This record gives sequence, structure tokens and C-alpha cells, in this order.
Amino acid sequence: MNNQLSQTASSIIDMVSDKQLQQALIESFSESQESVRKIEDCFALLPTYHWSNQLLAIFFNSWKATHLKMLAIYGLSCRLQRLALTKATPEREKLFFAGAYNAETSYEDLGLDFQGQTHAELYDNLVSFFLGNFPWQLEECCLPKAREFKKWIYQNMVVDDISTGLLSNMFSEIYNHAEYTMALSAFSELVNNHYQCSSEEKDKALCYVQAHVADETEVAHFLVVVKALEEYTQATNTTIDYQQAKLLFKEYLSRVSLVMEELTVSLKQETNATRNLMYVS
Ligand SMILES: [Fe+2]
Ligand SMILES: [Fe+2]
Repeated sequence: MNNQLSQTASSIIDMVSDKQLQQALIESFSESQESVRKIEDCFALLPTYHWSNQLLAIFFNSWKATHLKMLAIYGLSCRLQRLALTKATPEREKLFFAGAYNAETSYEDLGLDFQGQTHAELYDNLVSFFLGNFPWQLEECCLPKAREFKKWIYQNMVVDDISTGLLSNMFSEIYNHAEYTMALSAFSELVNNHYQCSSEEKDKALCYVQAHVADETEVAHFLVVVKALEEYTQATNTTIDYQQAKLLFKEYLSRVSLVMEELTVSLKQETNATRNLMYVS
């Protein structure tokens, strides 16, 4: 899986027409190789073993906390609309556009065009394939670093300044596309190696991950937040602070990598414990 995350991301970065933003994105990945490697290591390990329910509960609860930011997206669009209402045209129109473009990143999550089937439901399907009724939603199954990540994203998008919010949403889309691409092959291999099921059952289980990769969903989300940011900077007569953007992108990767690193430690502990048990018996 070496460099898969950065390579997938770079194919999307090429689509960005703002050269300085493009550069900030490229450098954020190239200067975060340690973080990227930690994330890739976790997904490389995932298909290698039939993990215990307890461990998968921690994995799925914590991984979920690094995604599913619908509330924060809604909060950010509300802020843009609220600001629009205080302005006169043409700023007002641009801010409404920024809010609308930002909101577009939640259409699939809400199940628009999918008979209302939300991504939260798809995530539940994914987890129940592996865990049945095992209580994975308990607060104690969430690693503290994952909880911190979720809070950080909410703070960035709902409390911090709006440009930080848009940059956070933008980067999460490009990151998600790269991560879900990698996660799809890891989960697929995990099911093939360690679970007995029909191909329909497998498709249903992995639909959450597949939905984000198919039709380039997250790529479209990324590009639409780039548009939202353009509208916002024009409306407020400001420019993007590219240095600040790069630091934010790197912090995003670093924070996710801390979660994935902790998960990797737990996965390794479980395989080691089993090995020791086999050795003793
Ligand atoms: Fe989603
Ligand atoms: Fe998205």
C-alpha cells in the first residue's frame, strides 16, 4: 500500500485550477509522509486476521468519528447563509452560493436521490455485517484521539472563522476519497479472507465505502467546496492564506494518523496475543 493514499489524492489535486492551492495540497501530503504511512499501515494490517468483536467495535466506532461530519457541514452552511442575510447584493448572492455549494457535500449523506437512505444507515450495515448486534456504539468504544478529531472538525467548521471551516471541509473530501479507495480494497480482502458470505451480502456490507468511491462522490464534493471558497473570498474581498491552509491540511493528516496508529497498535496486540496463546498450548 506504499504511497497509495498520496497517489490517489494527487490525481485529484491535478484538477485544481488555483495553482497556489494546488501547491499547498501537494506539499501537505509530501510533508506528511510519516502520518500517511501510519494510516496506510493500519489498512494494510486490517485484512490479515479475523479480529475479535471487541477490537472491531473500537475500530468501527473510532473510524466513524473521523468521518460523518454532516452536522458540521450544516452548521457551516448556516453560518454562510446568516452572513449573506446581513449583506446587500452582489455579496449576498455570492455568500448564498457559497452556502449552497458547501451544503452539496451532504446530499449523499442525507440520502437525497437514494430514497432517503443515509450514510449513517449504510455505516450501520457495514458494522452489523461484521458485528451483528454487538454494542459497538458505546462511548467507551471510541478512542480518545478519535473523539478529539471529531471535536476539532466541529470546532473548525462551526466555531472558527469561515475560511478555516471551508478549508477543513475541502480537505476532508480529498482525504476521504483517498482513504475510502484504500479502505475498499482492505475491507474487500478482509471479507474474502475471513468471512463466508454471498457476493450480494458482501456488496451490501461494503456499500458505505463503495458509495464514496463510486461515481467519484468525494471528488465532486472536494471540487464543490473549492467553488464555495472562491465565492466566499470574492464576497468578503479576502484571499486564501495558503500557508495557513497547508498547516491545516497537515494537521488533519497528523490527527487522523494518531487515531489509525492507535488502532494499529491494538490490531498488532491481538495478533501477538493469539500467537503467544498458540505457542503456550
Ligand atoms: Fe458520506
Ligand atoms: Fe463527501
